[in-house]
Amino acid sequence: MDKDLDKNLKTADDFMVSKLLGEDNDSTVVLARDVHTDIEYAIKIIEKSRIEKGNKKDEVEREKNIINQLNHPFFVKLHFMFEDEKRLYYVLSYASMGDLLSYIENSGRLSRPCVQHYTGELVLALEYLKGLNIIHRDIKPENILLTSEMHIQLTDFGTARLASDEEIECANNSSNRKTSFVGTADYVPPELLVDKCSNINSDLWSLGCVIFQMLTGKPPFCDASDFAIFQKVIKINFSYPDFVDEEAKDLINGLLKFDSNQRLGSDECGGFEKLKEHPFFRGVNWDELHTKIPPPISRPVSRLSVKTSRSSDSVSDKSDAVYSRISPRKSGTMKRQARPVKNSIAVNKLTASEPDDIEGYGLPPDLSSDDRDTWLEKQMGSTWHHFSNGALILKRAELEKKRGLSVKTRQFLLMEGPKLVYVDPSSMEVKGEIPWSRELKTEVKTFKSFHIHVPGRTYHLVDKKGNAIKWCRKIDDVKQFYYGSA
Ligand code: ADE
Repeated sequence: MDKDLDKNLKTADDFMVSKLLGEDNDSTVVLARDVHTDIEYAIKIIEKSRIEKGNKKDEVEREKNIINQLNHPFFVKLHFMFEDEKRLYYVLSYASMGDLLSYIENSGRLSRPCVQHYTGELVLALEYLKGLNIIHRDIKPENILLTSEMHIQLTDFGTARLASDEEIECANNSSNRKTSFVGTADYVPPELLVDKCSNINSDLWSLGCVIFQMLTGKPPFCDASDFAIFQKVIKINFSYPDFVDEEAKDLINGLLKFDSNQRLGSDECGGFEKLKEHPFFRGVNWDELHTKIPPPISRPVSRLSVKTSRSSDSVSDKSDAVYSRISPRKSGTMKRQARPVKNSIAVNKLTASEPDDIEGYGLPPDLSSDDRDTWLEKQMGSTWHHFSNGALILKRAELEKKRGLSVKTRQFLLMEGPKLVYVDPSSMEVKGEIPWSRELKTEVKTFKSFHIHVPGRTYHLVDKKGNAIKWCRKIDDVKQFYYGSA
C-alpha cells in the first residue's frame, strides 16, 4: 500500500475479531485483538469496491493522510494499516468506553462539572487540529469516544480536510459545488449551507452545538427534517431551557455566530487563548486536563443489543459471543446516523453472469414488495433458484464447513422463511440445513471464520473471501426480522 507508512506490518490473520463497533456506507469498524500481543484495537475496514464505485479514492487518501498526522492523546491513533485484495484495514486505538452520545442519552443531560471538563478536552483537541490546519467537519457526540480512563478520543476523519485545500477549492469552484452537505444536519454550520464551504472556524460552530447538547440533552437546532433544521441554523433560531446558566449561554452564544470570523476561538476574536479564558472555564487547569480524573458520569446501558464475550467491559468473560448490529437501520434523515446505510438494493446489482456470491437483498423495511418481486424475477434465472422453493435468497456464497478433520466446500443459501441450507456445488444436492430458532447465535472468530451455534451443535464455517462479519450481520438481521430482538 504505502511507502510513507511504516505501519504495513500486519495482515488480517494477526487479529481475532469480536464485535461490530460501527458502520456507515463505506466502512465497518470492528473490535479486534492482536493474537500476538493481546492488545485490543478498533479496525476500520473499507471495501475497495465501494471506493472505486463511488470515486472516493481521493477522500480515502485524504482521511488516511490526516489521521496519520495525528499524535495527541485526544485523538484515536493509527497503529497499523494493511490491505488485501478486497479491503483496506486501518488499525486504530480502541476507545473502550463508547461514545459521548450514549452518556448524554443515558443521563438526559450531563452535570455542569462534566460539561466543563469535556468541553475543555474538546477545546484542546480542536486547538490541536487548528495548529495542523485541519477542519474535522463532523464534530458531534457520536464521534467523541471515551477511553478506559474516560478521556476523549475524537474519531472519524472521513470528512476532514486541510483548511487550505478547502479554501482553494471554494475559491475556484464554489458555485459548482454539490448542494449536499458533509457532516450531520444537527451540527452543520451556516457557511456550509449558504456558501457550500467550510473554513478553519467551522468546527467552533459544532462545538457550540455539542456544549448545548451536553447541558440540555438535545442539540440546539432540532426538527423533523434536515431542511427544517437548516432553516433554523440559518436564522440561528434556538432557545435555552431555564436551567442553563448565564456563563454557559454566553459561551454558546459566542460560538454560534453566523459569521465564522466572529466566533469565539477564531483568530479575529483572539484565537483559542481567548476562548480558554472564558469564565465558563473558571478553575480549569488546561495543562493537566488530560491527566486529571474526569468528574463522574453515569454509565450508559450498552447500545449494543447483545454483549459479546470480548466486549471491552467484560474482556475476561468468555460466555457465548453474539454478533449484533449496533442500532436498527434507519432511513431518510441524517439524524443519528451521519451517513445512513443505503438501501442495499441500490448497492448490489445482480449481473447477467452469475456472481459466485450474492448479498444485500434486504428485508422490509429496506425492501418494498415491488422491489422484492423484481429481485425474485431475477433470481428465477439463477442456478440456485430451484433450491429456494420460491423464497427470496437473501445471501449466498461458497463456504467451507468444518467438522472434526473434515472440510467440505458448500454453497450456503440464506433465504426468507428463514431458511439456511447448504448445497454440494459439484453434485448440486442439498446436503443439509441449519435449523433456525430464537436460540440460533452467530460468532465471528476471525475475518474469515465464524460459528453458528444452534441448540446441540456448532457449525464451523470459513468464508475464504473474508466476509465472516457480513455473514454474521446478515444472519443477525434475519433473526431480528423474524424473531425480534433477543
Ligand atoms: N467506533 C469507531 N471507532 C472506534 C474506536 N476507535 N474505538 C471504539 N469504538 C469505535
